[in-house]
Amino acid sequence: MSARSRLVVLISGSGSNLQAVMDACRTGQINAQVTAVLSNKASAFGLERARTVGIPALAVVKPRELDRRLYDQRLADQVASFQPDWVVLAGWMRLLSSAFLDRFPGKVINLHPALPGTFPGVNAIEQAYQAFQQGQITHTGVMVHLVPDEGIDCGPCLGQVVVGMVKGDSLSAVEERIHAAEHALLVTVLQKLTSSGMQ
Ligand code: GRF
Repeated sequence: MSARSRLVVLISGSGSNLQAVMDACRTGQINAQVTAVLSNKASAFGLERARTVGIPALAVVKPRELDRRLYDQRLADQVASFQPDWVVLAGWMRLLSSAFLDRFPGKVINLHPALPGTFPGVNAIEQAYQAFQQGQITHTGVMVHLVPDEGIDCGPCLGQVVVGMVKGDSLSAVEERIHAAEHALLVTVLQKLTSSGMQ
């Protein structure tokens, strides 16, 4: 078994996807270790999840007046200090500029709760739910993609899963189904990335 890959995970909220990744690393399902968790929100519960298992957890909050690229540069400095093989955006809610992305070429992946080419940006689940209600789509899904540049949720796809919706579904039922699909897909993609010698 090759050396475990080093994952740095960025979050903004509850961190249920982070939890899935930490659990899979602990059981050996993913040949990797989460070496740090960073959040742009000091209140993100995901930071608590990391601290509970002794993983360094940092809040890197952007001061309102701080230039966006300067923030991204400082964030990248912090992330780089943990020597990541992969930077995993799991429920990370800020757009990252090239000041961050260019520091980790080919190594930043993002989880997005929609299929490639559909519903980029925030509220993707709600947008899909509305579209289904209006008969515009029959299903939605989730994807994990590379983040090579500042494009929003549109980098090369590493994995995707279709998530069905049926008449009468509540939004929360669809959200629950999508989050379960996210947890499974993120683990599956990281298994591939960390076992195929891609580091
Ligand atoms: C997930 O749907 C993620 O894709 C989205 O935010 C939600 C929060 O996920 N960006 P988590 O529980 O914080 O991992």
